[in-house]
Amino acid sequence: MFRRLLIVAMAFFSVVSSHAGDPDSVWLFSYASTQNGGRNGLHFAWSRDGNEWTSVGNEYGFLHSDYGRWGSQKRMIDPVLFQTQDGLWHCIWALNEEVNQFAHASSADLINWGRQSYPYLLPVTGFLQPAVLYDQHAGSYQISFNGSDNKQFVIATNDFKQYTSPRLKESSSAVHPGRSVVINEREHSGTVHRVSWKMVEQLLNEVQIRRYRSSVEAEDARKDSVRFAGMKSPAVTFKVQTDAAKPISSMLTGVFFEDINYAADGGLYAELIQNRDFEYALSDKEGRDKNWNSSTAWSATGGLSFVIDSSAPVHVNNRHYAVLKTTDGRGVMTNSGFDGIAVKKGEAYRFNIFLKRMDKGASVLLVKIVKANGETIAQASIKNIGNSWKKYPATLVSSETAADCRLELQLQPATALAVDMVSLFPAQTFKGRVNGLRSDLARVIADIHPKFVRFPGGCVAHGDGLGNIYHWKNTVGPLEARVPQRNLWGYHQTAGLGYFEYFQYCEDIGAEPVPVVAAGVPCQNSSVGGGGQQGGIPMAEMDQYVQDVLDLIEYANGDSRTKWGRMRAEAGHPAPFGMKYIGIGNEDLITDVFEERYLMICRAVKAKYPDITVIGTVGPFFEGTDYREGWAIAGRGKIDMVDEHYYQTPGWFINNQDFYDSYDRSRSKVYLGEYASRGTSLYNALSEALYLTALERNGDVVTMASYAPLLAKENHTQWNPDLVYFNNTTVKPTIGYEVQKLYGINAGDVYLPVTITNTEKDEAARKRIATSVVMDSKTGDIIIKMVNLLPVEANVRLELAGLNVSPQQAVKNLLKGKPGDKEATVETMPVNIENVFSDLLPAYSFSVVRIRGKK
Ligand code: AHR
Repeated sequence: MFRRLLIVAMAFFSVVSSHAGDPDSVWLFSYASTQNGGRNGLHFAWSRDGNEWTSVGNEYGFLHSDYGRWGSQKRMIDPVLFQTQDGLWHCIWALNEEVNQFAHASSADLINWGRQSYPYLLPVTGFLQPAVLYDQHAGSYQISFNGSDNKQFVIATNDFKQYTSPRLKESSSAVHPGRSVVINEREHSGTVHRVSWKMVEQLLNEVQIRRYRSSVEAEDARKDSVRFAGMKSPAVTFKVQTDAAKPISSMLTGVFFEDINYAADGGLYAELIQNRDFEYALSDKEGRDKNWNSSTAWSATGGLSFVIDSSAPVHVNNRHYAVLKTTDGRGVMTNSGFDGIAVKKGEAYRFNIFLKRMDKGASVLLVKIVKANGETIAQASIKNIGNSWKKYPATLVSSETAADCRLELQLQPATALAVDMVSLFPAQTFKGRVNGLRSDLARVIADIHPKFVRFPGGCVAHGDGLGNIYHWKNTVGPLEARVPQRNLWGYHQTAGLGYFEYFQYCEDIGAEPVPVVAAGVPCQNSSVGGGGQQGGIPMAEMDQYVQDVLDLIEYANGDSRTKWGRMRAEAGHPAPFGMKYIGIGNEDLITDVFEERYLMICRAVKAKYPDITVIGTVGPFFEGTDYREGWAIAGRGKIDMVDEHYYQTPGWFINNQDFYDSYDRSRSKVYLGEYASRGTSLYNALSEALYLTALERNGDVVTMASYAPLLAKENHTQWNPDLVYFNNTTVKPTIGYEVQKLYGINAGDVYLPVTITNTEKDEAARKRIATSVVMDSKTGDIIIKMVNLLPVEANVRLELAGLNVSPQQAVKNLLKGKPGDKEATVETMPVNIENVFSDLLPAYSFSVVRIRGKK
């Protein structure tokens, strides 16, 4: 479809094409502006005479820096463009004022750029006014630059991978090949080259095509009344081609779970006490919130006070605890929960606490659930507290339903006590699991019938800097021994919902576990420990990291006589979990640092566990450097499957239904691990439903797909849209959730192609009606999905000849409404089916008809 779009674009945007009067060659000026904090990337302007300059796309960035975190970084300063003897273009630039690194990337055509590298300049800081010269005598390129102390340095390279250490430049005369040029009345400095007009033409065309694509992708329902004004209901015939049936993946729809938006702690993980381990730290929020520390969510009143200590902890991984002192036996220590604690009348709550008596007096700890008005609605007491750390359980039963409760600890008589790991769980977790999941949230996910669950992220998997990588071993074993850490989304992870709990949940809902581990590098947008992935795990430590990944597979699948299998058995699951997939990396920036570590892990997994499907990564977008380079590595490394990500507009999904139609079937399979259409309206959901018909059509190459992110707690979102919103008492699935569920419960493993005839001839209208017909070979059921994204209803005729459908009353599920609706209910109704039957697709609707098979 996009190729078709490009042809239209040529006509529509009068893409630049050669004319008789065009020059053979012109001047090309390359530069970066200071707009948007210097983040707009590499720009070009051209000139016939070197005096009058015309911008190529005004601020259009042909190359963007990907160094460091969003916001303060990703800057391009003083870029220098030059061509090496082999004709390849290179660009080097400064990243910021502080680091002792610079950036390099190369390109054959100035449009498609290769991977970026960020070589070190140690011990020099600063990379100002760089200049490049070819030293014929030495056969190398000399890069001279000013350090931040204004001294001039030079480094040399042959291949732009290895560089000599900086040495002081002998002559202090600046060698700056750049010049200043005025473009649109602003002066810029940069580099000038003589290039063919054809090259400039290609740059201009690139800008036009991009603009055309953006305009098409910005299409939304608000313009439908104009775009489709006066449209009559089209008559559409879908004719199933039984002879062209093909097998497709039976696990197309699954879920992506990441601890983002308080999805885990305060969300799916049913713990009701916030900061139960007193391990919240200023660093969780990078020091931005002075009140976010070991005492967060805790307070003391009356004659009770507490201090945070770390001198003799329960466990070395859990250093902080509170020491309570009471002078009158009446004061209380309070935990406010996550936005309060919600309890239900008559339900039991499991309380656990680690205690250590700090003086000689006998003491009793009263534990209460108290409503906002001060009324106690559940109470228990803990006695015989010893003078070394020990876990004490209690059960509280609530006499009322209330959403705004708090937990109170009251120490009697006046005495001192150390407390840690203060925990309160509903007894009724999902499937009654201890340390389990909130049943309503776990259920709403299970109701999608996900074929797999990807966890623990997302960015959480590779972390903000090396120290923040999610290590599975930190998340298993006794809760007090797990290693809590900063959640890169700006809060705290207890690791209470850890790998054991993830595997168990997958098993409980019949979904394949798809754990994702970091590829030996943290997130490219890291702020901690230098810029992005240049801080890959040191190679000297990679063997251990690879072993950790192999140990994960043993933990999941090894029998209980193996070291890690035994640990799983001790946690309560002697039988293997039967893990079949592992993701290595998450939308990483593809660099040399990344590739070396990534392939090392992938190869080690395949060598030891050839039956495990390795899922690699191809960057955060559906195109661009990381996508191209990621796919190239996947080809060379024979990676089983790659994880694609794209968050796009509904217009993108509508206009890219052919995205996978021409994918090479001999290459790696695809897991579309993260996608969403940037909104929660019916229109968004229908554009996803439309796109999912295309994914089913390509179910021979697209094996799995998961909408992202999954969960979001109201008032605690870092990312929108999400599939399911919730607060402490209510779960609020979006319409997109209903689409995922309809696909989940109506999956097939055989695709039946359909020929479509449509009385409507307008291409924009035709592509807004889509269908997918699949068969579930276990039941023989035929499932027909039909999407109508037009403002008028469509009359469809379905021809099923060859499928031997017995006349019957089938079930139809229908989702419909106005495009901007944020809520819609699935209606279920009977439809009379024969080999040929007619149906009406309401405007803006998604219909799923399930026809019973003969099995
Ligand atoms: O889904 C939210 C985030 O989007 C994920 O953590 C990351 O992989 C992507 O950028």
